[in-house]
Amino acid sequence: MTHTSSTIEAPQAPAVPRHIAIIMDGNGRWATKRFLPRMAGHVKGVEAVRGIVEACALRGVEYLTLFAFSSENWRRPEEEVSLLMRLFVTALEREVSKMHANDIRLRVVGDLSRFDQKLQDMIAAAERKTAANTRLTVSICANYGGRWDIMQAVRKMMAQRPGEHDFTEAELAEHLAMAYAPEPDLFIRTGGEERISNFLLWQMAYTELYFTQTYWPDFTLESLDQAIASYQERERRFGRTSAQLLEQVG
Ligand code: IPE
Ligand code: IPE
Ligand code: MG
Repeated sequence: MTHTSSTIEAPQAPAVPRHIAIIMDGNGRWATKRFLPRMAGHVKGVEAVRGIVEACALRGVEYLTLFAFSSENWRRPEEEVSLLMRLFVTALEREVSKMHANDIRLRVVGDLSRFDQKLQDMIAAAERKTAANTRLTVSICANYGGRWDIMQAVRKMMAQRPGEHDFTEAELAEHLAMAYAPEPDLFIRTGGEERISNFLLWQMAYTELYFTQTYWPDFTLESLDQAIASYQERERRFGRTSAQLLEQVG
């Protein structure tokens, strides 16, 4: 399946975002504020994910992409990294059947080769089990980096036509890890930082950006609706003028 590229052709701007991508940040600070270990924040963070997945399904969002672990997060203390891996395993064990029952497709996106074999097998099984579900696609970005994604796509693209030089944007986009999804309409980052932190660099060319101070464990359905309401107030011009957009509608 191929999707419209925002740089090749101005896409439709749907009223409800078809694709929401979230950097779930602030777990550690949420815990520290309560004199709890950082891990308590990550555990709370998983609970927040559950609520937001359900809410997105109910609101008719088709793709929800969650940044769970970046290619730079290996720089954290070993103990935090291994606790995060364990949390990922338990979350998969607990949530996959429920997601399947709710017609949700799960994808895990990133360089999975660095994870231990048990986790890789669990991911593959979860993806297989939910592959035919159509209500909502939840993509978990794990050991993901936007630069990694572009580089792996370039390598695959060049391997397909060795010795060639005249590649197109569309050809590269086909090899991105999330080629199955349209570009995100709305990007949300919780936790107060206003940066992309090597998330979906290629795909966010024309994504509407929304930043909130709220720490991820405190991000509720109301917070999600505020972000969607902010998105709905934006004029998505994709390079054109306001007058051109009005002509299109009128
Ligand atoms: C986001 O929360 C979760 C991961 C990166 C795994 P953080 O752990 O980055 O929380 P803060 O930013 O330290 O508060
Ligand atoms: C970004 O959060 C990655 C995830 C939420 C998984 P970080 O907390 O790692 O980002 P920086 O280091 O503050 O940019
Ligand atoms: Mg952080």
